[in-house]
Amino acid sequence: MLISFEGIDGSGKGTQAKLFLKYLEEKNIPCIYVREPGATKVGEAIRELLLERKNISISPRAELLLFLASRAQLVSEVISPALLERKIVVADRFIDSSVAYQGVARNIGLREVEKLNDFATGGLKPDLTFYIDITVETSIKRKKNFDRIESEGYEFLKMVRDAYLDLARKYTERIVIIDGERAIGEIHKEIIEIFEKRGGKHK
Ligand code: ADP
Ligand code: TYD
Repeated sequence: MLISFEGIDGSGKGTQAKLFLKYLEEKNIPCIYVREPGATKVGEAIRELLLERKNISISPRAELLLFLASRAQLVSEVISPALLERKIVVADRFIDSSVAYQGVARNIGLREVEKLNDFATGGLKPDLTFYIDITVETSIKRKKNFDRIESEGYEFLKMVRDAYLDLARKYTERIVIIDGERAIGEIHKEIIEIFEKRGGKHK
C-alpha cells in the first residue's frame, strides 16, 4: 500500500508522516518512509539543485521535469521494490505536489502535469492520500526558513492550497482532507482512525 501525505509548506505533513510510521512500526507492520524530492542519491542531488535559494533561474518546465526525474528514480529504486515486498510505503509528498505547485501555481496546466506524472511513475498512484489543510497565514507563521519555492510568497501558497482542495474534491475516493489547524496528537488520531477503516480494503 502506498500512502502519501500532502499539504502546503508547514502543514505538518512531515510530522504526521513520521508519527504514522511510528504507529506502523509499533504494530509490526513492515513499512518505509520516503521523502520527495529526495530519498535516492539522484533525488537528493536534484533536491539540492531545486531548493537552493540561489538557483532562482530554473524555468517552470525545467523545475517540473527535475521533480519528475526525482520521482521516477524513487519509484524504480525504492517504492516499487518495497511494494513488491508488501511493505506500506509512506510518502512525504508525491504526485499531487507537482500538480498543485507546478501544474496550478506555476501555471503549466493540471492535465499536462497529470500526464507527465503518469509517465514518471508508470501510472503508480497512492492508495490513500492525507491532504493536511492549513491556511496560508498558519503556513507563514510556522515556517522560519523558506526554501526557494516557499519564498514565492502568500499568493503562490494560496494557489497551491486552492489546487489541493480542488484535487481533494476531484479524487474523493483517494484524497482525505485533514484539518491541520488542530493539535498534533488530535490530527494523528484521526489519521490512524481513517487508516484503520480504509486500510483493510487494499490488503
Ligand atoms: P511540513 O513537513 O508540512 O513542512 P512540518 O511537519 O515540518 O511541516 O511542521 C512545520 C512546523 O510546524 C514544525 O515546527 C512543527 O513542529 C510544527 N507543527 C506541525 N504540526 C503542527 C500542529 N498541528 N500545530 C502546531 N504546530 C505544528
Ligand atoms: P518539502 O521538503 O516537502 O518542504 P516542506 O517540508 O518545507 O513542506 O518540499 C520542498 C518544496 O518542494 C516545497 O516547497 C514543495 C516543493 N515541491 C514542488 O514544488 N513540486 C513537487 O513535485 C514536490 C515533490 C515538491
